[in-house]
Amino acid sequence: MPGVRPRARALKEKWQKDPLGIALYQKIFERGKLILPQIAAEDLSGSAGSVVFPACHPLYAGEDTPLDDLLFLLHFAKARNAQRILEVGTYRSRTTLAFHLNCPHAAVVSYDIVTRPSPYRDIANRQAAIQFRLKPFSTASAELLREPKFDLIFIDGSHKKEDVLSDSRLAMQIVAKDGAIIWHDYRIRDYRTDTLEVPEALRELAPAKPVFWVRGTTCAIYREI
Ligand SMILES: C[S@@+](CC[C@H](N)C(=O)[O-])C[C@H]1O[C@@H](n2cnc3c(N)ncnc32)[C@H](O)[C@@H]1O
Repeated sequence: MPGVRPRARALKEKWQKDPLGIALYQKIFERGKLILPQIAAEDLSGSAGSVVFPACHPLYAGEDTPLDDLLFLLHFAKARNAQRILEVGTYRSRTTLAFHLNCPHAAVVSYDIVTRPSPYRDIANRQAAIQFRLKPFSTASAELLREPKFDLIFIDGSHKKEDVLSDSRLAMQIVAKDGAIIWHDYRIRDYRTDTLEVPEALRELAPAKPVFWVRGTTCAIYREI
């Protein structure tokens, strides 16, 4: 019937943006997914005093780590005086560059399976302390196991359960003794989210490891406390 399909599509799109629809979906299908014990940022490090955010146009892009989470991440890296930082999932290189700006003496290594040009990448490419590696993180164990261990590993690559688990297993082997692993996107889905199975992966990992949900963020952290 003419006009029915476009109207149905418009209705679906409206419903998918409706906060009530999203809240209902989450209440019904995502309840009880976030089971990790919570921890406050102040229980994880001293105070860094300040952090620096790089800012280039476009200011926002789909897969950037949101500012709330970035604040925790950069503050933690700086307060802990991280000397070797590893990121899984470079995307626009905004967080990669931010790590460097806040920890200028640290070696920063970032893995991705694609190279995305961006103003952050242009600046990061000129920094000797930043190294980009183009390959799936979980295939890099041979090179990584030969290197000094990392004080901070930020896992923000593929969000499929099996990938998060294999990335996490490798991270556990290369994190320094008093270092930390931070996962991004420890949060529930709504029906617009593609694959987001970080909670499912960490649920499997957590009984054997001290993993916490950092209050006020969508980050989870592993640290022997
Ligand atoms: C959410 S984005 C990363 C955002 C970035 N960490 C930031 O803070 O702005 C996820 C990235 O992971 C990359 N990725 C997907 N699978 C990967 C893998 N197996 N190893 C490394 N990177 C991967 C994607 O290409 C994408 O750029």
